[in-house]
Amino acid sequence: MTTQLKSGHTAEPLSDEESARILKDFPGQVDGLVRVQPGGWILPTPYLEIADKIYDFKFHESDVVVMTHPKCGTTWTQEILWNMVHNPNIDSPAAEEAVNGRSPYLEVDMFFMGKMKEMILSDTSNPMLKQFAELCPGANPADGIEIQRVAAMPGIRIFKTHLTFPLLPPDLLDTTKVVYVGRNPKDMCISYNHHYRISRTLDFQGDMDLFVDYLTNDELLYGPYWDHIKEGWKRRDHPGLYVLFFENLKADPMAEVRELDKFLDTDLTEEQMTKVIEHTSFDKMKARDAFFPMNEEMKKKIMNQEVVQKEGGFFRKGQVGDFKNKLTPAQESKIDAWTKMNAEGMGIEFKYSI
Ligand code: A3P
Repeated sequence: MTTQLKSGHTAEPLSDEESARILKDFPGQVDGLVRVQPGGWILPTPYLEIADKIYDFKFHESDVVVMTHPKCGTTWTQEILWNMVHNPNIDSPAAEEAVNGRSPYLEVDMFFMGKMKEMILSDTSNPMLKQFAELCPGANPADGIEIQRVAAMPGIRIFKTHLTFPLLPPDLLDTTKVVYVGRNPKDMCISYNHHYRISRTLDFQGDMDLFVDYLTNDELLYGPYWDHIKEGWKRRDHPGLYVLFFENLKADPMAEVRELDKFLDTDLTEEQMTKVIEHTSFDKMKARDAFFPMNEEMKKKIMNQEVVQKEGGFFRKGQVGDFKNKLTPAQESKIDAWTKMNAEGMGIEFKYSI
């Protein structure tokens, strides 16, 4: 069945053959996937329930949106921006809440509407649910907890989204500020592979050869990666957009935080910027290990503990060039060919080492 979306796109479930194959290789992905055209964007089926609400979402002038393809440095950038805006002296008790509670994930309801629903709703300690109850009395959770909570959230909102520009309000850049974060495709691939293996809701069963096939066939969630990057990069001259690269942030965080300070008009002192950088270093964020508001019991349920113990959790390595330890020459060649085919003429040069 084809679904018509307000954005002008249409969405179709994957074919039976594709769905069966994906369910075999990713048995956690039980909610199913849709392909949104034009673009071929791969999203979980419950996206259809919130797509129009997101397209119509009313952003404020003061909002900041962190937009990325998954595993390109979203959480790191959210944490930097949130602290620059709300906690420049690193003394706010509010900073103790997990990043994605303070800095909302715009479309996260699509992950709560399917298989995870009961589990998420059962955690009464979740600050997102508490704030939803406080800010949205009488609202129906079935209409989307996060989308209703963020609409009512006071103050400057620092959003996360993995959705690409064409699926968001067309006046987004004229209304608010967007920081688009890109990362080289090989490190992103390694990081995404890890994510697909630690997340029980995805539960990838195959080896790296198969994962590289899925990536280069544009069959992973939120892909196609290159089109996502293109949609950000082609808007780079818009004054509402700042394009940030994971590799540059890693190489010289102060230079990037100075640029972000100008972009956001936060007017921080050098001392404040230094504090923000320290507080958001990989080691500090890994030690806090607080990316999503959930209790330890739930974390254990949704993350594959065996992989976490052996290869790290959400904050895995945080490096540039780790793909050199993980990809075979044949896998690299496949990604190189895919890159050549997609990035030609784009004028974008990713760094693969720093
Ligand atoms: P690795 O898997 O390579 O370690 P996202 O937030 O978009 O999902 O991206 C996750 C990637 O960013 C992971 O990469 C994670 O370790 C890395 N990351 C998170 N916080 C970081 C930080 N403070 N510094 C450097 N990398 C960070």
